[in-house]
Amino acid sequence: MKKEEYILKLFPEIEEIKDNEIKKGVIKAWLVTLDKTIYKKLEEVPQNIKVMPKGRSLVEHVRVVTVSAIEIAKIYKKTSGIKVNLDYLIAACLLHDLDKLLGYEIKEGKKERKAFYPHGVESAFITLEAGLPREIAHLVCVHTPSAIMKPQSPVKVEGLILQYVDVLHADVLRALYPAEPIMKLMVSHVPSSVFHQS
Ligand SMILES: [Fe+2]
Ligand SMILES: [Fe+2]
Repeated sequence: MKKEEYILKLFPEIEEIKDNEIKKGVIKAWLVTLDKTIYKKLEEVPQNIKVMPKGRSLVEHVRVVTVSAIEIAKIYKKTSGIKVNLDYLIAACLLHDLDKLLGYEIKEGKKERKAFYPHGVESAFITLEAGLPREIAHLVCVHTPSAIMKPQSPVKVEGLILQYVDVLHADVLRALYPAEPIMKLMVSHVPSSVFHQS
């Protein structure tokens, strides 16, 4: 099987991207990452090596995030007429956690991960390296709640959808393991008065 076909088989949602250049760029970004990682197969990469080392796969997480984001974007369009750039959103969802494949060392026969950059940053570098638009790289860079930059660009709606569906799926997995939810950690940093404003 060709490498491109392997990526398409793992992530069939790539076919939902309308722009051919973006579609090609997403496949290229995964291939670039595959060349840099110590993993032979993407199916072996865990969603979070610390919390669930032998647990759920990153591929599964990326697909859940992508499919969830697509459905939410469709609901917003249907019920509220809110326009979402689906190509940007799908590409960013598919690439948001690329850096989870990088920075590994083998110590005493075990894989250990040491990230060189804050989460999201190296994934954004690879997004640009694959020739994709800066807006997609921005979405990838700010997807994590710990990002210093926030989704303030023209892709704000897409950025919020990606952030929320990502944290939702990560916390569903943490509830099953169990581990401290990301949302709880986020809430502990916010003054309680904020929660009376929605
Ligand atoms: Fe992430
Ligand atoms: Fe994620």
